[in-house]
Amino acid sequence: MNALSDLVSVRAWVDEARAIAVLTGAGMSAESGVPTFRDAQTGLWATFKPEELATEAAFRANPAQVWDWYASRREMMKDVRPNAGHEALARFQQRHPGRLTLITQNVDGLHQAAGSVGTLSLHGNIFDDVWLDPCMGAPGCGGVCAVSRAQPGRPPACGDCGNLLRPGVVWFGEMLPAVALAAAEDAAQTCDLMLVVGTSGAVWPAAGSAHTARHNGARVVVINPQPSELDDAAHALVRATAASALPALLAD
Ligand code: OAD
Repeated sequence: MNALSDLVSVRAWVDEARAIAVLTGAGMSAESGVPTFRDAQTGLWATFKPEELATEAAFRANPAQVWDWYASRREMMKDVRPNAGHEALARFQQRHPGRLTLITQNVDGLHQAAGSVGTLSLHGNIFDDVWLDPCMGAPGCGGVCAVSRAQPGRPPACGDCGNLLRPGVVWFGEMLPAVALAAAEDAAQTCDLMLVVGTSGAVWPAAGSAHTARHNGARVVVINPQPSELDDAAHALVRATAASALPALLAD
Protein backbone atom coordinates (compact mmCIF):
# COMPACT_ATOMS: atom_id res chain seq x y z
CA MET A 1 0.00 0.00 0.00
CA ASN A 2 2.68 2.47 1.13
CA ALA A 3 0.16 5.22 1.57
CA LEU A 4 -2.42 6.32 4.05
CA SER A 5 -4.18 3.08 4.77
CA ASP A 6 -7.48 2.15 6.22
CA LEU A 7 -7.67 0.00 9.29
CA VAL A 8 -9.62 -2.73 7.50
CA SER A 9 -6.73 -3.49 5.16
CA VAL A 10 -4.18 -3.57 7.95
CA ARG A 11 -6.51 -5.66 10.07
CA ALA A 12 -6.35 -8.35 7.39
CA TRP A 13 -2.53 -8.36 7.71
CA VAL A 14 -2.86 -8.84 11.47
CA ASP A 15 -5.16 -11.81 10.94
CA GLU A 16 -2.72 -13.40 8.46
CA ALA A 17 0.42 -12.77 10.50
CA ARG A 18 2.11 -15.70 12.17
CA ALA A 19 4.60 -13.63 14.16
CA ILE A 20 3.95 -9.97 15.00
CA ALA A 21 6.51 -7.57 16.47
CA VAL A 22 5.35 -4.25 17.90
CA LEU A 23 7.72 -1.35 18.51
CA THR A 24 6.31 1.39 20.72
CA GLY A 25 7.47 4.88 21.63
CA ALA A 26 6.31 7.80 23.71
CA GLY A 27 3.17 8.38 21.61
CA MET A 28 1.90 5.03 22.91
CA SER A 29 1.46 6.62 26.33
CA ALA A 30 0.30 10.07 25.20
CA GLU A 31 -3.34 9.17 25.73
CA SER A 32 -2.47 8.04 29.26
CA GLY A 33 -1.30 11.59 29.94
CA VAL A 34 2.46 11.07 29.58
CA PRO A 35 3.99 13.85 27.47
CA THR A 36 6.12 12.73 24.54
CA PHE A 37 9.73 13.85 24.20
CA ARG A 38 9.94 15.82 21.01
CA ASP A 39 6.57 17.50 20.85
CA ALA A 40 5.84 18.34 24.46
CA GLN A 41 8.75 19.75 26.39
CA THR A 42 6.67 22.01 28.57
CA GLY A 43 6.89 23.96 31.80
CA LEU A 44 10.11 23.99 33.78
CA TRP A 45 12.01 21.96 31.22
CA ALA A 46 10.80 23.69 28.11
CA THR A 47 14.19 25.19 27.43
CA PHE A 48 16.09 21.90 27.58
CA LYS A 49 16.45 19.20 24.99
CA PRO A 50 16.18 15.61 26.29
CA GLU A 51 19.55 14.94 24.68
CA GLU A 52 21.08 17.62 26.94
CA LEU A 53 19.68 16.06 30.12
CA ALA A 54 19.60 12.34 29.42
CA THR A 55 23.34 11.73 29.27
CA GLU A 56 25.97 10.58 31.73
CA ALA A 57 27.97 13.74 31.05
CA ALA A 58 24.97 15.94 31.92
CA PHE A 59 24.39 13.99 35.13
CA ARG A 60 28.02 14.21 36.21
CA ALA A 61 28.13 17.94 35.38
CA ASN A 62 24.94 18.76 37.26
CA PRO A 63 23.54 15.78 39.16
CA ALA A 64 20.89 17.78 41.01
CA GLN A 65 19.44 19.25 37.83
CA VAL A 66 19.20 15.89 36.03
CA TRP A 67 17.94 14.11 39.17
CA ASP A 68 15.24 16.78 39.55
CA TRP A 69 14.21 16.31 35.91
CA TYR A 70 13.76 12.60 36.45
CA ALA A 71 12.05 13.21 39.79
CA SER A 72 9.52 15.45 38.05
CA ARG A 73 8.95 12.81 35.37
CA ARG A 74 8.54 10.08 38.00
CA GLU A 75 6.03 12.24 39.82
CA MET A 76 4.13 12.85 36.61
CA MET A 77 4.11 9.13 35.71
CA LYS A 78 3.39 7.59 39.07
CA ASP A 79 -0.41 7.67 38.83
CA VAL A 80 -0.91 7.23 35.08
CA ARG A 81 -2.86 4.23 33.86
CA PRO A 82 -2.61 2.12 30.69
CA ASN A 83 -4.86 3.29 27.87
CA ALA A 84 -6.98 1.28 25.45
CA GLY A 85 -3.95 0.74 23.20
CA HIS A 86 -1.83 -0.84 25.94
CA GLU A 87 -4.80 -3.00 26.92
CA ALA A 88 -5.45 -4.14 23.36
CA LEU A 89 -1.83 -5.30 23.04
CA ALA A 90 -1.92 -7.15 26.36
CA ARG A 91 -5.23 -8.84 25.57
CA PHE A 92 -3.97 -9.95 22.15
CA GLN A 93 -0.90 -11.52 23.80
CA GLN A 94 -3.13 -13.30 26.27
CA ARG A 95 -5.41 -14.65 23.53
CA HIS A 96 -2.50 -15.61 21.24
CA PRO A 97 0.40 -16.73 23.42
CA GLY A 98 3.78 -16.40 21.72
CA ARG A 99 2.44 -14.62 18.63
CA LEU A 100 3.18 -10.99 19.51
CA THR A 101 6.54 -9.68 20.76
CA LEU A 102 6.39 -6.25 22.33
CA ILE A 103 9.44 -3.99 22.06
CA THR A 104 9.23 -0.64 23.81
CA GLN A 105 11.36 2.45 24.15
CA ASN A 106 9.11 3.62 26.97
CA VAL A 107 10.31 3.73 30.55
CA ASP A 108 6.90 4.26 32.17
CA GLY A 109 6.00 0.60 32.80
CA LEU A 110 2.52 0.97 31.28
CA HIS A 111 2.78 -2.11 29.03
CA GLN A 112 3.64 -4.21 32.07
CA ALA A 113 0.84 -2.55 34.07
CA ALA A 114 -1.61 -3.50 31.31
CA GLY A 115 -0.53 -7.14 31.65
CA SER A 116 1.77 -7.52 28.65
CA VAL A 117 4.16 -10.42 29.01
CA GLY A 118 7.84 -10.51 28.06
CA THR A 119 7.99 -6.82 27.21
CA LEU A 120 11.44 -5.93 25.85
CA SER A 121 12.23 -2.59 27.50
CA LEU A 122 15.07 -1.20 25.43
CA HIS A 123 15.49 1.98 27.48
CA GLY A 124 15.01 0.66 31.03
CA ASN A 125 12.50 1.67 33.70
CA ILE A 126 12.33 5.17 35.14
CA PHE A 127 11.27 3.93 38.58
CA ASP A 128 14.45 1.87 39.10
CA ASP A 129 17.40 3.33 40.99
CA VAL A 130 20.93 2.16 40.16
CA TRP A 131 24.37 3.36 41.20
CA LEU A 132 26.17 5.76 38.91
CA ASP A 133 29.53 4.02 39.45
CA PRO A 134 30.65 0.61 40.62
CA CYS A 135 30.91 0.41 44.40
CA MET A 136 33.85 2.58 45.38
CA GLY A 137 34.87 0.15 48.09
CA ALA A 138 34.88 2.37 51.18
CA PRO A 139 35.11 0.24 54.33
CA GLY A 140 31.46 0.83 55.29
CA CYS A 141 30.19 -0.42 51.91
CA GLY A 142 31.29 -3.96 52.71
CA GLY A 143 32.37 -4.54 49.11
CA VAL A 144 29.09 -3.56 47.53
CA CYS A 145 26.87 -0.57 48.23
CA ALA A 146 23.25 -1.59 48.71
CA VAL A 147 20.86 0.79 46.90
CA SER A 148 18.69 0.76 50.02
CA ARG A 149 21.56 2.33 51.99
CA ALA A 150 21.52 5.52 49.94
CA GLN A 151 21.10 8.65 52.00
CA PRO A 152 18.32 11.01 50.86
CA GLY A 153 19.50 13.82 48.60
CA ARG A 154 19.36 15.24 45.11
CA PRO A 155 20.48 12.68 44.10
CA PRO A 156 20.68 10.25 47.02
CA ALA A 157 24.23 9.10 47.76
CA CYS A 158 26.00 6.23 49.52
CA GLY A 159 26.77 7.39 53.04
CA ASP A 160 30.07 5.52 53.00
CA CYS A 161 31.65 6.12 49.61
CA GLY A 162 29.63 8.98 48.13
CA ASN A 163 28.49 7.01 45.07
CA LEU A 164 25.38 8.62 43.55
CA LEU A 165 22.08 7.02 42.61
CA ARG A 166 20.81 7.57 39.06
CA PRO A 167 17.63 6.45 37.33
CA GLY A 168 17.70 3.01 35.69
CA VAL A 169 17.13 4.32 32.19
CA VAL A 170 19.37 4.17 29.14
CA TRP A 171 20.94 7.54 28.45
CA PHE A 172 22.12 8.79 25.09
CA GLY A 173 25.50 7.28 24.31
CA GLU A 174 24.93 4.24 26.55
CA MET A 175 24.58 0.63 25.50
CA LEU A 176 21.11 -0.85 25.45
CA PRO A 177 20.49 -3.86 27.71
CA ALA A 178 22.09 -6.69 25.73
CA VAL A 179 19.52 -9.41 26.35
CA ALA A 180 16.54 -7.22 25.48
CA LEU A 181 18.28 -5.81 22.41
CA ALA A 182 19.18 -9.28 21.10
CA ALA A 183 15.63 -10.49 21.62
CA ALA A 184 14.27 -7.40 19.86
CA GLU A 185 16.58 -7.95 16.89
CA ASP A 186 15.51 -11.57 16.72
CA ALA A 187 11.84 -10.57 16.76
CA ALA A 188 12.43 -7.99 14.03
CA GLN A 189 14.22 -10.54 11.85
CA THR A 190 11.63 -13.27 12.23
CA CYS A 191 8.30 -11.44 12.32
CA ASP A 192 6.08 -11.25 9.28
CA LEU A 193 4.32 -8.10 10.49
CA MET A 194 5.74 -5.19 12.45
CA LEU A 195 3.56 -2.47 13.94
CA VAL A 196 5.47 0.74 14.77
CA VAL A 197 3.38 2.75 17.23
CA GLY A 198 3.90 6.29 18.50
CA THR A 199 7.58 6.80 17.85
CA SER A 200 9.35 9.55 15.95
CA GLY A 201 11.91 6.96 14.86
CA ALA A 202 14.68 9.41 15.68
CA VAL A 203 16.58 7.27 18.20
CA TRP A 204 18.71 4.32 17.25
CA PRO A 205 19.21 1.40 17.52
CA ALA A 206 15.53 1.07 18.50
CA ALA A 207 14.38 2.63 15.23
CA GLY A 208 16.48 0.12 13.32
CA SER A 209 13.98 -2.63 14.18
CA ALA A 210 11.57 -1.38 11.55
CA HIS A 211 14.23 -1.42 8.85
CA THR A 212 15.38 -4.87 9.94
CA ALA A 213 11.83 -6.19 9.73
CA ARG A 214 11.28 -4.74 6.27
CA HIS A 215 14.66 -5.98 5.06
CA ASN A 216 13.73 -9.48 6.20
CA GLY A 217 10.45 -9.50 4.33
CA ALA A 218 7.94 -8.43 6.97
CA ARG A 219 5.12 -6.01 6.32
CA VAL A 220 5.69 -2.80 8.28
CA VAL A 221 2.85 -0.57 9.47
CA VAL A 222 3.42 2.83 11.11
CA ILE A 223 0.63 3.98 13.44
CA ASN A 224 1.10 7.66 14.22
CA PRO A 225 -1.10 10.74 13.73
CA GLN A 226 1.96 12.63 12.47
CA PRO A 227 4.69 11.85 9.93
CA SER A 228 7.68 10.02 11.39
CA GLU A 229 11.21 9.12 10.32
CA LEU A 230 10.08 5.52 9.84
CA ASP A 231 7.38 6.29 7.29
CA ASP A 232 9.76 5.41 4.47
CA ALA A 233 10.19 1.90 5.90
CA ALA A 234 6.43 1.33 6.03
CA HIS A 235 4.16 -0.54 3.67
CA ALA A 236 1.20 1.18 5.28
CA LEU A 237 0.70 4.38 7.26
CA VAL A 238 -2.19 4.58 9.72
CA ARG A 239 -2.72 8.21 10.70
CA ALA A 240 -4.52 7.51 13.96
CA THR A 241 -3.68 7.43 17.63
CA ALA A 242 -2.51 4.35 19.50
CA ALA A 243 -5.59 4.17 21.71
CA SER A 244 -7.94 4.34 18.73
CA ALA A 245 -6.07 2.20 16.18
CA LEU A 246 -4.80 -0.71 18.29
CA PRO A 247 -8.17 -1.83 19.67
CA ALA A 248 -9.54 -1.78 16.11
CA LEU A 249 -6.60 -3.79 14.75
CA LEU A 250 -6.19 -6.31 17.56
CA ALA A 251 -9.71 -7.03 18.82
CA ASP A 252 -11.21 -10.49 18.32
P1 OAD B 1 9.14 11.11 20.50
O1 OAD B 1 8.66 12.19 21.44
O2 OAD B 1 10.38 11.37 19.73
O3 OAD B 1 8.00 10.81 19.43
C1 OAD B 1 6.67 10.59 19.84
C2 OAD B 1 5.86 10.23 18.63
O4 OAD B 1 4.55 9.88 19.07
C3 OAD B 1 5.70 11.34 17.60
O5 OAD B 1 6.01 10.83 16.31
C4 OAD B 1 4.22 11.72 17.69
O6 OAD B 1 3.67 12.11 16.42
C5 OAD B 1 3.62 10.42 18.13
N1 OAD B 1 2.33 10.51 18.85
C6 OAD B 1 1.88 11.54 19.62
N2 OAD B 1 0.69 11.21 20.15
C7 OAD B 1 0.37 9.97 19.70
C8 OAD B 1 -0.72 9.09 19.91
N3 OAD B 1 -1.75 9.43 20.72
N4 OAD B 1 -0.71 7.89 19.30
C9 OAD B 1 0.32 7.53 18.50
N5 OAD B 1 1.39 8.32 18.27
C10 OAD B 1 1.42 9.53 18.87
O7 OAD B 1 9.25 9.77 21.35
P2 OAD B 1 10.05 8.43 21.03
O8 OAD B 1 10.03 8.13 19.58
O9 OAD B 1 9.58 7.40 21.98
O10 OAD B 1 15.13 7.83 24.66
O11 OAD B 1 11.52 8.83 21.44
C11 OAD B 1 12.50 7.83 21.35
C12 OAD B 1 13.46 7.98 22.47
O12 OAD B 1 13.96 9.30 22.51
C13 OAD B 1 12.88 7.80 23.85
O13 OAD B 1 12.80 6.45 24.26
C14 OAD B 1 13.86 8.53 24.68
C15 OAD B 1 13.90 9.79 23.86
O14 OAD B 1 14.87 10.66 24.16
C16 OAD B 1 15.87 7.73 25.75
O15 OAD B 1 15.50 8.18 26.81
C17 OAD B 1 17.17 7.04 25.52
